Amino acid sequence: SQPPISVQALVQNGLEEVPSRFLQRSLDSRVSAPFEESLPIIDHGKLLRNDPSELAKLGAACAEWGFFQVVNHDIPISLLERVRKAARQFFHLSHEEKLEFAIKPGSCEGYGRHFLASDVLDWVDLLYHQLLPISTRNLSSWPTKPESYRTVLHEYSNEVHGLAKCLLGKISETLGLESDFLEKKFGECIYQTIRVNHYPPCPQPDRVMGLSPHSDPGGITILLQDDVEGLQVRKNGKWVQVQADPEAFVVNLADQIEIITNGLYKSVEHRAVVKTESKERISLAMFHSPLPDTLVSPAANFVNPRQPSRYTSMTFGQYRSSFLNKELRGKNHVKSML
Ligand code: SIN
Ligand code: FE2
Repeated sequence: SQPPISVQALVQNGLEEVPSRFLQRSLDSRVSAPFEESLPIIDHGKLLRNDPSELAKLGAACAEWGFFQVVNHDIPISLLERVRKAARQFFHLSHEEKLEFAIKPGSCEGYGRHFLASDVLDWVDLLYHQLLPISTRNLSSWPTKPESYRTVLHEYSNEVHGLAKCLLGKISETLGLESDFLEKKFGECIYQTIRVNHYPPCPQPDRVMGLSPHSDPGGITILLQDDVEGLQVRKNGKWVQVQADPEAFVVNLADQIEIITNGLYKSVEHRAVVKTESKERISLAMFHSPLPDTLVSPAANFVNPRQPSRYTSMTFGQYRSSFLNKELRGKNHVKSML
């Protein structure tokens, strides 16, 4: 099989121009001015204390944005630093050392890249792992260098899973439903996967895309960034730049929530751009989804004669493999019947 095309290896070999496979033909640069719009900020401590105005703020963020930042969460900042550091140390290993954990044919786990069907490649290298339930882990795709990687990832997985459960509960409440409503729709438990993104510095940042526009296939994504900006969210036909806050999480609703709520809450398109010639960027996207054999369709609570079911039902496993086998292109993969 072909070794993965590593952006970091290209950069390490010295590179003045971006290879043509990574050159975007045109780049949509309609970015809102920073004072115009910024992501809602949700105080997790207030949510935990059942503060009604914070719950209302969360409901508005879900309805109007599908995206928000979470501050005052109870995950230790030192753990966030350790998991970013372990990721950075892995991506800084030699190409040969990283290849030991390369994605194998027929798998999507390990080091390399996804969406090989794309004409133009994104400026990113990634690590992807299945995390929960624990029985789904394939440790052979988990780096052993740095030595801390596996233990830190295990710890991080547990902590973020707790936050996801809590947020799914609060989001259910914003819909006027019992707090276990969304989680129950996922099946026996939450299916958790992680995508660790490394965007190396780029000699021509405005000619490449870090991660092409897409919505996430799962249920709810909890993203950790470092101190370099890059994430942009689509709102009213423009892109809104998300502030880099290394201590906060960026949370977004994904396709399965849109399907379950029959489009009441939407999964929102986002992308990662590369903004500097000198700095790398690391982000960790933790996906929480229904189990692969769960059949997902609009819930009865959101379907009535005036609002018929708008989405094709299928298992999450089918949904995800169709997503992974396509190009990343906006919300094209969402099977809406209207
Ligand atoms: C993602 O969409 O999975 C991550 C985007 C980012 O790196 O901020
Ligand atoms: Fe995403």
